[in-house]
Amino acid sequence: MKTIIEPFRIKVVEPIRLTTREERRALLAQAGWNLFGIHADDVIIDLLTDSGTSAMSAEQWAAVMRGDESYAGSPSFYRFESAVRDLMPFRHVIPTHQGRAAEAILFSIVGGPGKVVPSNTHFDTTRGNIEATGAEALDLVIPEAHDPDDPHPFKGNLDLARLERVLQEEGERVPLVMVTVTNNAGGGQPVSLANLRAAAQIAHSHGKPLIIDGCRFAENAWFIKCREPGQDARGVKEIVRDMFAAADGMTMSAKKDAFANIGGWLALNDDSLAAAARNRLILTEGFPTYGGLAGRDLDAIAVGLGEIVDEQYLRYRVRTNEYIGEKLTALGVPVVRPVGGHAVFVDARRFLPHIRPLEYPGQALAVALYEAGGIRACEIGTVMFGLRPDGSEVPADMDLVRLAMPRRVYTQSHADYLVEVFEELVLRRESLRGLRIVSQPPQLRHFTARFEPLS
Ligand code: F0G
Repeated sequence: MKTIIEPFRIKVVEPIRLTTREERRALLAQAGWNLFGIHADDVIIDLLTDSGTSAMSAEQWAAVMRGDESYAGSPSFYRFESAVRDLMPFRHVIPTHQGRAAEAILFSIVGGPGKVVPSNTHFDTTRGNIEATGAEALDLVIPEAHDPDDPHPFKGNLDLARLERVLQEEGERVPLVMVTVTNNAGGGQPVSLANLRAAAQIAHSHGKPLIIDGCRFAENAWFIKCREPGQDARGVKEIVRDMFAAADGMTMSAKKDAFANIGGWLALNDDSLAAAARNRLILTEGFPTYGGLAGRDLDAIAVGLGEIVDEQYLRYRVRTNEYIGEKLTALGVPVVRPVGGHAVFVDARRFLPHIRPLEYPGQALAVALYEAGGIRACEIGTVMFGLRPDGSEVPADMDLVRLAMPRRVYTQSHADYLVEVFEELVLRRESLRGLRIVSQPPQLRHFTARFEPLS
């Protein structure tokens, strides 16, 4: 059969409310045209993030009931630890309440003024946690990643020549090398096994550990299986193990590729680094066998990790985004190609060339998607990145809108509905207008800024 169906059936449903266009116009005005201010109940299809929004399986809910809430030595922890180590064989697995907590602990130990941390592209919480210690976060993704039309199969790859140069020239300032799989901030693009191994070899030849930000490891492994020469006959689980065998540790948000609604971990091979991390964990998260989570969350993660490496699931997962990407491309809507593992990124600057970057074409498109169809997406562009610490504004590299797909939540007809909403916007794209900001905080303005449409 050529149709790739959703490989699950629906046992519990959550009704979604179809608001009217008039209601949505009023809700947008109330929220200052900022989609973070809209109540989720007033959203029909919520593509704001794929983080913590997965549908858990019947087995995960059963595991939640098995969760044991002992303060120390809970069996839930040992099930969690063994599920992690089945895929990522690190010596120490340290649970945290979510990904950024693992980052904060790691960089509170190895960061600090004068340090430099290279990565393909740091996610904003990773960058934030590095910079909060006074260190510098350095992005070294390959140049192809900056061209939305370049069909390179592994646009998340690290630029190995630049990595080698940074380590030669500033090696003593570099505590570790990071690689994010898939590269979320670069469009959800994968990193090849060859690139991971080569990055590890370079890092190790300078005596530095390689740490993987593994949030979307299973999607990355699926891309390796489909796109990397010599990998297609191999199992995803085997590929996952190879990815992590190249590394010395990882940070993880279980809210992505573990199908959990909360959770994360820091895993390390180095005993003394792990001991320092556990000391920090006890101060900020909790005892090392629960680390900021309930036992039931640890059990949900343990089961989720077994489910995420299912190849039928991954085929359907990646196909959903390709399907949306193909339909949008056919409509003439420019999308970042190849489409990412967890999201489709629309190039709003090219879709709305009459809206200048400082009038926020990404925000204009995100607002239009909500007004026309009740769909919530996320601007990743000048609103998010354009405000400098001195209060001045510059256009971001690109003005994108991310359509992030929650896992196992929406069906093909939801995808078709999304495409139909775009169909309407294509017909009246010249009528869409930019916005101006009427109030904003000094940092991370995209969460709380208030806008007004330009007439
Ligand atoms: N690393 C990457 C690559 C991420 O995408 C995220 C979160 C984190 C780290 C932090 O994890 O949220 O559990 O603290 N990304 C979400 C998103 C928020 O919408 O892309 P967390």
